[in-house]
Amino acid sequence: MDRTAPIGVFDSGIGGLTVVREITRQLPDESVIYFGDTARVPYGSKSPETVIRFSLEDSAFLLRKGVKLLVAACNTASSVSMPALRGGSSVPVIGVIEPGASAAARATRSGIVGVIGTNGTISSGAYQKALREAGGIRTVVAQPCPLLVPLVEEGWLDHRITTLVVEEYMAPLLREKIDTLVLGCTHYPLLKAVLGRVLGPEVALVDSAESTASVVGRTLGEAGLLSGPGVPGLPSHSFYVSDIPLKFQEIAQRFLGRSIPLVTQVEVGDA
Ligand code: DGL
Repeated sequence: MDRTAPIGVFDSGIGGLTVVREITRQLPDESVIYFGDTARVPYGSKSPETVIRFSLEDSAFLLRKGVKLLVAACNTASSVSMPALRGGSSVPVIGVIEPGASAAARATRSGIVGVIGTNGTISSGAYQKALREAGGIRTVVAQPCPLLVPLVEEGWLDHRITTLVVEEYMAPLLREKIDTLVLGCTHYPLLKAVLGRVLGPEVALVDSAESTASVVGRTLGEAGLLSGPGVPGLPSHSFYVSDIPLKFQEIAQRFLGRSIPLVTQVEVGDA
């Protein structure tokens, strides 16, 4: 495998750019190909069978592009699709659940950890299982927060309505006295400020994007596949979506921290 080959990252839509942002921050020499399934987003309200089928189609597109490693940046996809994705891939596949759970196990002092995500992610039980297996965690408080994705996409990151919604969702977690909260959805890192205000400084916020990017670096390093600096024309970052590239481009800045000059529309459904 060519170590200058790109890392493939897929998500149900735009949120996976929070993972790309961390990968490019931690691994600045790596090229990335991103696919956002904007035609079929959201995944968070769909059945596991449908999410697995979509995930396999998304990853097939990236594998055809010659990626050296695949990242399922979408928490909902990671929560149900990892066995199918690993079974169908010739390259390593990394999801966001285990990295997030291990980071939470390192962060907690009391062993009482909360996790928030889409309905699909929370009802899959994947985070709850990974957190219990990570060691040192005695109570897991899981809370679906389906209203948060649309609020983030609307750009209401610091809006009184978002604060009210967050207060409502966080009430059971505060009652259980969590000391660590796993942000189990691509969109939630953008709500760190409001979550921090509502939960208070004693609660550590675990961003699965950060921990996933470090697992990507470790996996590539162990396989001897890290790309080095100084390769002419690299790193390159390309972005593909299945619908409305212009909307993706407009809100990408918020998730990625920089603008994207080109977004290409492709069809992946028949992969
Ligand atoms: N990317 C999804 C996740 O991280 C959120 C958006 C969706 O529901 O598709 O779970």
